[in-house]
Amino acid sequence: MPRNILFSAHQKRHRTWLPGLGKELSRQNIEAELVVEPPDKDSVHYIIHAPDGPVSDFSGFRNLQAVLSLWAGVEEIVGNPTLKVPLVRMVDPGMVEGMVEWVTAQVLRYHIGMDAHIRNRSGQWLKHLSPPLARHRVVGMLGLGSLGQACLRSLASLNFQLLGWSRTPKSLPCIRTYCGEAGLRKVLAEADIVVLLVPLTPATTNLFNRKSLAFAKPGLSIINSGRGALIDDDALLDALDCGRISHATLDVFRIEPLPPEHPFWANERISIWPHIASETRVETAARILVRNIARHMNGGTLENVVNIQRGY
Ligand code: NAP
Ligand code: GLV
Repeated sequence: MPRNILFSAHQKRHRTWLPGLGKELSRQNIEAELVVEPPDKDSVHYIIHAPDGPVSDFSGFRNLQAVLSLWAGVEEIVGNPTLKVPLVRMVDPGMVEGMVEWVTAQVLRYHIGMDAHIRNRSGQWLKHLSPPLARHRVVGMLGLGSLGQACLRSLASLNFQLLGWSRTPKSLPCIRTYCGEAGLRKVLAEADIVVLLVPLTPATTNLFNRKSLAFAKPGLSIINSGRGALIDDDALLDALDCGRISHATLDVFRIEPLPPEHPFWANERISIWPHIASETRVETAARILVRNIARHMNGGTLENVVNIQRGY
């Protein structure tokens, strides 16, 4: 029986992904067909999946071996009751590189105090707003996975004082690491800038709420490139109003695109990005996807399999 890899993502992705994956399949000599409309469900052994594609019910695919997500965040699929095979999340070197650039840029924006000068037309010589060195600025990274750790390496090269927070204890060079609720409070209380790069799970939903934000060092800046629902919107607006949080840069939202009537649009202390911190890059990710499928077809184990109970 032919082995088909079903590409199930929005049609707008076909133009770049189908040639990219096709090239990798022949480069890596894989005996499988890449299809968007399989002749029958039994012929499908792997599904490359994005939540905006046609497949959301996996129950009819009797020979399915694995579902490989085009996205790093898998919160939209991890709880799918019809998913009975391993789910693989995206770990793409191109995406990591993009996230490092975006996060480093956002941290530097706050650190250097760029906005005050870029927008200054007051005629005032703002000499007193000279930035300290990075070695005197504390940055907290919430999430020490493939993205969080890569961003920390970039920030470490600039000498920032770094704090990290994860679910399980970690030991990383030159970074003070914490876990648990008490650890989160410590990071929030000490950091000048905090970056959110944890996945959205039941344990992280509304991670930033009224209670946790009350521990923030006054004037904290927040950068969220994880998921919108990590933050309670109303709690953030209140914390910005009272000055507990000085500014938030948000790339992700509970509803995307962010509806025009959402109060974030009218708040000058919020920068809104349209979920572009870092996309999966076809040129690097196609290689990773095909390599993982090839390993599995040859009897090896899949890499980056999601723990369904944990949710990431
Ligand atoms: P990852 O490698 O799975 O790392 C996740 C990290 O979060 C791990 O360090 C994990 O702790 C920590 N974590 C999970 N649950 C936690 C909890 N309850 N308390 C504390 N820490 C917790 O994920 P990744 O590849 O770095 O990606 C992170 C997220 O970034 C994705 O899930 C996605 O939502 C988001 N993302 C956004 C964009 C964008 O363009 N905006 C692009 C890509 C990804 P342990 O180390 O202890 O397991
Ligand atoms: C993007 O947000 C992703 O999760 O890949």
